[in-house]
Amino acid sequence: MNDTLRVTVGTGYPVIVASDVWQDLPDAMRAVGLHGRVHIIADTHLRAQAEQLVSACGEGTSLLLIAGGEASKDMLTLMHIYNHLLHHRVERRDIVVAFGGGVIGDVAGFAAATILRGVAVVQMPTTLLAMVDSAVGGKTGINHALGKNMIGAFHQPRLVYADVTLLKTLPQRELAAGWAEAIKHGVIRDAQLFDDLASADPTNAFFDPALVRRAVAVKVDVVNIDVHEQAERMLLNYGHTVGHAIEQLLGYGVLLHGEAIAIGMHIEAQIACALHLCEPSVVTRQKAVFDRYNLPTALPAEISPPKLLEVMQRDKKVLAGHIRWALPEKIGYAIITRDVPLTLVEQVLTQGINTQ
Ligand SMILES: NC(=O)c1ccc[n+]([C@@H]2O[C@H](COP(=O)([O-])OP(=O)(O)OC[C@H]3O[C@@H](n4cnc5c(N)ncnc54)[C@H](O)[C@@H]3O)[C@@H](O)[C@H]2O)c1
Repeated sequence: MNDTLRVTVGTGYPVIVASDVWQDLPDAMRAVGLHGRVHIIADTHLRAQAEQLVSACGEGTSLLLIAGGEASKDMLTLMHIYNHLLHHRVERRDIVVAFGGGVIGDVAGFAAATILRGVAVVQMPTTLLAMVDSAVGGKTGINHALGKNMIGAFHQPRLVYADVTLLKTLPQRELAAGWAEAIKHGVIRDAQLFDDLASADPTNAFFDPALVRRAVAVKVDVVNIDVHEQAERMLLNYGHTVGHAIEQLLGYGVLLHGEAIAIGMHIEAQIACALHLCEPSVVTRQKAVFDRYNLPTALPAEISPPKLLEVMQRDKKVLAGHIRWALPEKIGYAIITRDVPLTLVEQVLTQGINTQ
């Protein structure tokens, strides 16, 4: 069975999603022509596995453990990584391995993009969210007090190496948040993936690398068409216009990113429906899957629709004053549109829609 997908941007790189392979990282790196010294930047939750990888990668390998969680995506952690790499006399042919969730991937990826004007990075994601979304596509960066992901660079990895067995220790809530992005991929581009997710057992489905790989494949396809987020890649923002605004209003960390995205997708599907872009069944089918995966869909009571609208209009995705929406036409197909009257959005936020 082929467990490898391929991003074709630039010189291209393989995206491996498999089971019981994480110890074989050195072989996988050699196979893509990476022969330098290895610097592993790992999430503290993966200490035991990271120490094993240090032995496997051989002499000169360094290890830095970093706590996961949004607070680590800051200048202080970045400086800590630079200090570590420079202290270990990093060279241009060396390899940074980002071994953790999206936070480690983003901050270690940005360190790799900038140290010595760029060294190779291998993304080795250990959360479901990082596997299906952040490890692929080359977006790296840190947060600023004035906004999330405000400082960063595109730096494509030389290899994405995902082993689903590493997800065994991931808390259920984090797992569900990762499924939200996988469900999103089904809605925007893969109806069969959506159906398979709808019938899978949410607590065990990650043991099936083929299912996770299909969710990753949607991201790979989208990145291959549009690496710099000019058009097609914006489809990945489905649920994010509302979701980001919810995260910003509640304060980061109250809801997990995937949970905010699930609420965002539920509201944005209703917007698509109110615009007569899609049938009400899209809303009800999507909600049924979110319920199955224990993901929230209701707007938190403390968020008022006018405030949410105001924050949405300040989003990065706003172009010339218009919000660019990714909205479903049916399960498996979404489009980008700017033609969404704000009055209609407000109406959906305050009254919802009738799906009977
Ligand atoms: N670069 C991109 O394209 C992109 C896309 C989507 C999201 N992101 C970013 O990803 C971040 C969120 O990623 P995340 O949800 O993976 O968060 P995270 O990296 O903070 O991981 C979530 C939690 O799980 C822990 N953890 C990680 N792996 C584990 C494991 N195997 N077992 C047990 N615990 C483990 C972490 O320590 C943390 O507490 C956000 O900062 C977001 O902006 C980036």
